[in-house]
Amino acid sequence: MHKRIIYSVFGVAAAGVVLFGVYAWHPEIAPLAPGAKPPFSQADIARGKIMAAAGYCSTCHTPPGGLEYGGNYQMNTPFGVIYSSNITPDPDTGIGRWSEEAFIRAMRTGVSRDGHHLLPAFPFEHFNKMTDDDIKAIYAYLMSSVPAVNQQKKENGIAFPLNLRFLQAGWKLLFANTTPFEKHSDKSDEWNRGAYLAQGIAHCGACHTPRNALGGEKYSQMYEGALIDGWIAPSLTRSSTSPLHWRAQDFYEYLRTGNSPYHGAAAGPMAPVVHHGLAALPDADLKALSVYFGELAGSNSDDPAAAPKLQAAVDEQHKIKDLRIDNGARLYTSTCSACHYSSSQQVKGRPLLALGSATHLEDPSNLINVILDGFRSDQGISGVVMPQFRDALSDDDITAIATYLRQTAGEQPWPNLLQKVGEIRRQPRFEQ
Ligand code: HEC
Ligand code: HEC
Ligand code: HEC
Repeated sequence: MHKRIIYSVFGVAAAGVVLFGVYAWHPEIAPLAPGAKPPFSQADIARGKIMAAAGYCSTCHTPPGGLEYGGNYQMNTPFGVIYSSNITPDPDTGIGRWSEEAFIRAMRTGVSRDGHHLLPAFPFEHFNKMTDDDIKAIYAYLMSSVPAVNQQKKENGIAFPLNLRFLQAGWKLLFANTTPFEKHSDKSDEWNRGAYLAQGIAHCGACHTPRNALGGEKYSQMYEGALIDGWIAPSLTRSSTSPLHWRAQDFYEYLRTGNSPYHGAAAGPMAPVVHHGLAALPDADLKALSVYFGELAGSNSDDPAAAPKLQAAVDEQHKIKDLRIDNGARLYTSTCSACHYSSSQQVKGRPLLALGSATHLEDPSNLINVILDGFRSDQGISGVVMPQFRDALSDDDITAIATYLRQTAGEQPWPNLLQKVGEIRRQPRFEQ
């Protein structure tokens, strides 16, 4: 009797393994014959170039100072180091011998031409929302216009057993959203275009949606904010902690220029999204994205210029502090306020820190990152810089300034801040 149970348990398990094997297995797609490059239309190549930019392909497939699209950009994930692939048309080390069919399969299902599973650090679960035509356009651009680079991909540093590629099939089954993009007929064309771009090529959720312990996006909390590369990608929904509502036009301004006067500037991993990615998209597409996010954030049409919170933030700057007693106020006044003072919030490029998300997030990482490393001219508004204070201010100083900013913005002090500042200072810095 017992034996029979054991046999049947084994039987079910074995059948499961076989079924999983069948599910997980993908055939190789035959390589293109040497020199057999399909003809591409100029219109497709041009559109593919824009789409590739909007998908930040180059940001992830080019290491700092490396050859464009040559791969080996290093991504540090909780599961280990992952290196991106060479996606130039090099026939030996790139995708030069990939057919259009192989490329579409990779973009839709995360399976390489030879049949091995790709890790979800490659955001195929967003790219699968794209139309075939858009994916083909990217293929046309990469195959025709990107110079071939001969460079092998480095081995990923993922520990056993997660390095077993076929297990990715299980991950996909559990976590990947593979449903194609669906138009919402009750929404405008503009909204639908924004949703298509955000969920697909621009994969905003890859950074702004929280993930579970195995790295799957929690779709029930889409865009509710997440930790990415030591930064907080804030919530883009009604759960945003921003004191002033994000309206469609605020999203538009932020995404187009890298700064919203009512909210702050784009630093860290968001800077290349704006300046290398979305910059390629025409205005109509950025407006569409903004309409989509404006609705998710509540689409509040109140004029922020008249908001009492704005007035309070402006007034706060005019108060006379007792600098003999308050160390935070003294440090803030001597190191920050010359640049962060304005008599109205309409002055661009000088964010009122009492309104910015960095001050209002539950986690202090963004504020500390900005104080330590400042803003380069290719971050936030182009050409505007903030110096770094890494060498000028001690952990105690930064803690005092951050605590002062929190208090004057009406928030509770962050717990264990001093320790956190030390931890963030010691983190290795990654170039973007
Ligand atoms: C967030 C980073 C990231 C972005 C953005 C990204 N990729 Fe990748 N991509 C990767 C990583 C990492 C790998 C390798 C994954 C692995 O080792 O399993 C990869 C692999 C690939 C592969 C498989 C290559 C092969 O030899 O198997 C293709 C094709 C690809 N990417 C195309 C693109 C295109 C096209 C875009 C833009 C539309 C893009 N990627 C954007 C990180 C990224
Ligand atoms: C590579 C990761 C990444 C991607 C992709 C990304 N973001 Fe971000 N985003 C961030 C980070 C990190 C921040 C915080 C930056 C800062 O505070 O300077 C941020 C900030 C923002 C902010 C400011 C929020 C606030 O309250 O201050 C907006 C708006 C935003 N992102 C919208 C988008 C949209 C729309 C997309 C897709 C088109 C997108 N992001 C894609 C990482 C990302
Ligand atoms: C020399 C001028 C200058 C000084 C000094 C300066 N900043 Fe900045 N800061 C800027 C500029 C300019 C920006 C916006 C950058 C952009 O849009 O490109 C900025 C942006 C910021 C942001 C991002 C705002 C947001 O919410 O997105 C924070 C936070 C910040 N500064 C904090 C500080 C603190 C704290 C100090 C003092 C330790 C300081 N800054 C000193 C010029 C300065």
